[in-house]
Amino acid sequence: YIREAAELVTLAGSSERPLTGAKMGELNTIEDGSVWIEDGIIQAVDRDAVIREKYGSRLEDAREVDARGRLVTPGLVDPHTHLVFAGSREAEFDMRLKGRSYMDIMAAGGGIHATTRATQHASKEQLIEESTRRLDRFLLQGVTTLEAKSGYGLSLMHELKQLEAAQELDGQHPIDLVSTFMGAHAIPVDRREQPDRFVDEVIHEMIPEVARRKLAEFNDVFCEKGVFTPEQSRRILEAGLEHGLLPKIHADEIEPYGGAELAASLNAVSADHLLKVSDEGIAAMAEAGVIAVLLPGTAFFLMTDTADGRRLIDAGVPVALSTDCNPGSSPTVSLSLMMNLGCLRMGMTPAEVLTAVTINAAHAIRRADRIGSLEVGKQADLVIHDVADHRGLQYHFGSNHTHTVIKKGTVVVE
Ligand code: NIG
Ligand code: FE
Repeated sequence: YIREAAELVTLAGSSERPLTGAKMGELNTIEDGSVWIEDGIIQAVDRDAVIREKYGSRLEDAREVDARGRLVTPGLVDPHTHLVFAGSREAEFDMRLKGRSYMDIMAAGGGIHATTRATQHASKEQLIEESTRRLDRFLLQGVTTLEAKSGYGLSLMHELKQLEAAQELDGQHPIDLVSTFMGAHAIPVDRREQPDRFVDEVIHEMIPEVARRKLAEFNDVFCEKGVFTPEQSRRILEAGLEHGLLPKIHADEIEPYGGAELAASLNAVSADHLLKVSDEGIAAMAEAGVIAVLLPGTAFFLMTDTADGRRLIDAGVPVALSTDCNPGSSPTVSLSLMMNLGCLRMGMTPAEVLTAVTINAAHAIRRADRIGSLEVGKQADLVIHDVADHRGLQYHFGSNHTHTVIKKGTVVVE
């Protein structure tokens, strides 16, 4: 029994479709709201007086979690991370601060390639250990579900190792993980002369095996000048579809490249980054209902302009926000910092930002039937924040407001 939040944000009524336009700002809040949970499932969400009347006789036996004076929201969902990797890349930070570009470092064999070398050398156990530390910190910030991509293996064996690590983490850790195969994250350094042969390997060797072992639900590709072309990306994403892996795409991050248009033409679940998306790309995404997963940490850390969240929302594109947690372009687990940046750098309102990390993020990983809102029948994943209302969450930046985290009805952080 979660007792009497000052503000209870339910986001109820949007499990079918992600929220768009003005609807992104309608949180469906209840004042003095309480939640009744049994067997990890939400049984009732209402004003406290109503809950007390309904469950009065059972109040004594119930575990009461006091939320008075505080904000309660659905558990936060991070729909785009590269959680499983080994090592770190501080050496590149110095270079970038002196003006060297991210893509330049990658072209010279660093960047994603540096993390690939470290990840290939790591055992599965080591990957699990390093990733557990990140997951623990995600949980302390109120994240209860996250998506995790492979893509630092870049060969069948090592991609499988990364995906198996994610699968084991899903079983061991309170946070639920949803896996994405991203064998097309970079062309391995020793395959640069024959990029299409690597694309063929992804299509004919990796995708069928990943699908056969049920190690991923989504298939992602880094569609960017100097990495995978739109044509190669289309082939890879279509091959995934043939094996039941739903398309996602890293699109139009560094240069406009037709990634958003490609996402729309494939009815991709999401197109992510979108800093340089074209007007046609935005219109096509709105038309096809492709979710824009925006990653303000990447722009912040790479010191570039941020994606225009306001423009996307006003154009009718459903928007979600994510950390992009990875060792090179966004080494953070702070979804709350992304929320602040959503307001301060992307023109989004506090309410839109909260929608973007709950129900719309759940849609971006096809979990909105179970999580992302507080409604009868849904999984009881929720967070009590030490602020009085949702605006406070975005307003007081730089500290962690998480007070209590409840996962499947169990208190996991208090
Ligand atoms: O989403 N853009 C490509 N991939 C990651 C970065 C990965 C890395 O630098 O290790 C991203 O930004
Ligand atoms: Fe990414």
